[in-house]
Amino acid sequence: MPSAPSSASIPDAGTLFDRTAAIYDRTRRQLIPCFDAFYGAVPALVERAADAELAVLDLGAGTGLLAQQIAHAFPRARFLLVDVAEQMLEVARQRFASEPEGRFRFAIGDLVSFPLPPRQDVVISGLAIHHLDHPAKRDLFARVRDALVPGGVFINAEQVLAPTPDEEHANHERWHAEVQAAGIASSDLTAALERMQADRLATLDEQLAWLREAGFVDVRCAFESGRFAVYAGRRRSA
Ligand SMILES: C[S@@+](CC[C@H](N)C(=O)[O-])C[C@H]1O[C@@H](n2cnc3c(N)ncnc32)[C@H](O)[C@@H]1O
Repeated sequence: MPSAPSSASIPDAGTLFDRTAAIYDRTRRQLIPCFDAFYGAVPALVERAADAELAVLDLGAGTGLLAQQIAHAFPRARFLLVDVAEQMLEVARQRFASEPEGRFRFAIGDLVSFPLPPRQDVVISGLAIHHLDHPAKRDLFARVRDALVPGGVFINAEQVLAPTPDEEHANHERWHAEVQAAGIASSDLTAALERMQADRLATLDEQLAWLREAGFVDVRCAFESGRFAVYAGRRRSA
């Protein structure tokens, strides 16, 4: 098991991801072998009519890949994208530049301390919360619960730690073989492996338990493949 992390968020998370902003999108499909199924599992978990006017908060939004999935499925949804890396959010701004004024808003902030705006219908996150240490993850889950409207949903498309070191090793080896088979440039793989050293992974079971402890209901995993999982929980209806 990895040793306990020393600070709540990666000290230089902004710099780490700003360095990768320009190449981030083009390497995603190579680095996430199950890309379509993984991100594609998220919209169905919203469980709202396609024309619903939703307030959506994206935590660690990066270049906006996950927000784009929800935006496509829910054309009347409005978004706040939060990330600590300014350059990642800059790519997201460009991605959504042709959207109607005010549909997408952006905020630079650290998930450890960023005040989550209340009355969110949906909170999403993709591959971001595993950069926080475990107490900060649990604290964030509680703050997400408070930010949601009653019945609102939190969906996390996340990287998870296998239940045993042997399974974790096997998952890593399989992932490594898959990304190489996908033809990733060795410099891109090296950069990804470097970034992954800062990961603070928790098992899927730990994360689902933390959601329940935070008071979420209907907690479930909708997709799991190797180190990638999509899970969700709802704030209890009033
Ligand atoms: C692997 S990227 C995922 C981006 C996007 N959600 C996606 O699915 O493509 C992780 C993102 O989390 C952000 N991040 C990491 N730690 C953070 C923190 N403590 N506060 C806010 N954002 C953070 C990084 O800047 C980066 O943009």
